[in-house]
Amino acid sequence: MHWKQVFSVAVVAGAALLAGCKPSYPPAKPIGQLNPQESRGYQVYQRACASCHYADHSGDLHGPSLYAMYDKKYLPSGAPANDARVSAAIMDGHGIMPGFGNQLSQQQLQDLLAYLHTL
Ligand code: HEC
Repeated sequence: MHWKQVFSVAVVAGAALLAGCKPSYPPAKPIGQLNPQESRGYQVYQRACASCHYADHSGDLHGPSLYAMYDKKYLPSGAPANDARVSAAIMDGHGIMPGFGNQLSQQQLQDLLAYLHTL
């Protein structure tokens, strides 16, 4: 192999390594430090979301982890990680995820969003 080929292979491998390297995010707020609204949101998460989503660490369960969701720019679908898009996913469902529009009140949704922001 010519040295130039060796060089370009090394550059491509380096770029692939960088792309695969996940940034690390600050840990989720400990449960004991949640304020009253965030605690209510945590209850909603436990009841409605925990069976399919991890919250305090990354990795897929049935759906993608919700950990550090708002620290990232985009949701797994590529939509911007903001309250409007997250609320829509929760209330209307997303792909194979069921919607919770007829199970959660607006207050419960707001509490849940407050909790998700602590992750
Ligand atoms: C029955 C399992 C299940 C439950 C319960 C569930 N989800 Fe999901 N969720 C999924 C799956 C699967 C996906 C990936 C869907 C896809 O992209 O097709 C997902 C995707 C998401 C996404 C990413 C949407 C996007 O645009 O990428 C968010 C945010 C989310 N769920 C939040 C929640 C919250 C909050 C709750 C609790 C109210 C919840 N989910 C309950 C299975 C579930």
